[in-house]
Formats: sequence, C-alpha cells, structure tokens
Amino acid sequence: MKTLVLANQKGGVGKSAVATLLAHYFAQQGQRVLAIDLDHQGNFSKPLRRSGRAELANVGADVLMTSSAISLPEKPFVLVPSAAGLLGLERQPALHNPFARNFRAALAALDAQFDLCIIDTNPNPDIRLIAALASADFLLSPIQLNQEALDGVGALLNHERVGIRKIKAVLNPKLKLIGLLPTLVEPTPFQRSNFSQLIQQYKPLLIPIGSGPGDFAFIPKRSAIAEAQANAEVLWEMKKTAARDAWKEIVPSFEKISGIVLSAGDHHGLAA
Ligand SMILES: Nc1ncnc2c1ncn2[C@@H]1O[C@H](COP(=O)(O)OP(=O)(O)OP(=O)(O)O)[C@@H](O)[C@H]1O
Ligand SMILES: [Mg+2]
Repeated sequence: MKTLVLANQKGGVGKSAVATLLAHYFAQQGQRVLAIDLDHQGNFSKPLRRSGRAELANVGADVLMTSSAISLPEKPFVLVPSAAGLLGLERQPALHNPFARNFRAALAALDAQFDLCIIDTNPNPDIRLIAALASADFLLSPIQLNQEALDGVGALLNHERVGIRKIKAVLNPKLKLIGLLPTLVEPTPFQRSNFSQLIQQYKPLLIPIGSGPGDFAFIPKRSAIAEAQANAEVLWEMKKTAARDAWKEIVPSFEKISGIVLSAGDHHGLAA
C-alpha cells in the first residue's frame, strides 16, 4: 500500500476537493483505496460517504491514533471518517508519540488490504499532520496562486514542526514530496503572473506534465468541482458538459500523480 497525504497549512486551498477526486479516480482505476479523513471538518468524509461508493469503517480516524489494533471492512474502497475525537489529540502532548506510532502501526497492518491510502489533513500543524507525514510515502501539496500562498511555500519545506525537511530528517526519510499542485486556478492576469513567479522560484517543486515551459499539473477553478464536492457526485459522471470538461482538464495531472505513486518501489524500501 502506498500512502499519499494531502497537506498545506493554508486553509481552503482545495485539499479536500483534490483528495476526494483522487480517491474516486484511483477507485475507478481498480485500485483498492483506503480514504482517511484526519480533519474534524469532515470535508473529505462527507462527499465520499454520501457518494455511496466507499464503505464506512466502524471507527473514526481518531481511533487510528489511539489504538493500534484496527480491522476494516474487506471492501475495495473504505472510508475511515472524520470524528470529533480528532480535535482532542493535540491537547494530549504526553501521548503524541504513541499516537504517531499507533497510526503508523495501523497503516502497516493494512498494507496488504489496500493498494493506496489517501489521507486528507487539517490545515493546522498539529499531531494529526505529523502522524500522517511520519507514516506516508508521498506528500502532495495543493496551493493557491496568491501571494500569501507563495510566501507559505517556505513553511511547507522548513516549518520547525511539520516542514518536509524536518519530517524527513527526524521521522520519515522515505517521505517524498510529489510537489505543489496549484488549485482553483483561473486564467486571470493576476494568477498567470503568480504562476510564473511560482515557476521561477520553485520549479523543481512543480509537477511537470509536458515538455512546454508552463506544462505543470494544476486543478482549474470550476463550479462543477465545487458542486461535485457539495453534492457528493463523481465529477466525471455528472450530466453537465461543464463537469466533463472540467474532468478532462484534470486528467493529465491525475495521470501524472498516479504514475508517480503507483510506479514507485514498494514502501518497505526494497526499491530504494
Ligand atoms: N478546483 C476547484 N474549483 C472550484 N471550487 C473548488 C475547487 N477546489 C475546491 N473548491 C471549493 O473551494 C472550497 C474549499 O475547498 P476545500 O474544502 O477542498 O479546501 P481545503 O484546503 O480542504 O480547506 P481546509 O483547509 O478548510 O481543509 C470548497 O467549497 C470546495 O468545494
Ligand atoms: Mg479540507
């Protein structure tokens, strides 16, 4: 099982929307998908649960941290949903190490049952995010094309608690940053200029999808994506042409991300 975490400390950048689209996408591709929602807001759980596609686990995601013995339904698409208990974890600092250990042990125990685990995270740099990053193979970081978000890229890399450098150095050397995924992208001069600035400053962190100078993975801003999220629909199955058009724009980026995640060596490090 490969584990992919969606994270960015900026709120509202499309983490949960991308996590939801990816979960449906991988399930559609025939991968056995485990979806874990570590955000008490539940914006990954709600659309997956209401879509009727994912089997609901009988525990909330907090239990993956508080207990190491978990058993999940034998189904190809399972959701471990958001739960109120997630909020209390940060307030028990003496238990943070056990929480992270339990989470890692729970994922390890599920290794043979799923091909892919997708974890959506809350925007605070707390123990939930640390546990997720400490256990993951891949990090994908949705980012919005505004100045604050661009300024925030430094923190993503260098934050003292949850920055990828720190996590890799101290907790999880196998963690790989797939890259920054610009989301809610609009063809305005303002965003174009921020996109070129992002390319100039952080080109190695973007995800190339072609040979052109601006060919990097991104998610456009489309009302159909917000509607899919709000109505728990699968974007490419929606009746409107606008939804299918939005999906077509996303496919090259998802194919690239999927290629990276699924082609990588076994997470026990055999190919490392
Ligand atoms: N590509 C998109 N086009 C249009 N709307 C979008 C897109 N991506 C996300 N949205 C909408 O923007 C809002 C914020 O998105 P989302 O909840 O995915 O962000 P988030 O990063 O998970 O937020 P939080 O930090 O609060 O967890 C939601 O209403 C969502 O439906
Ligand atoms: Mg979210």
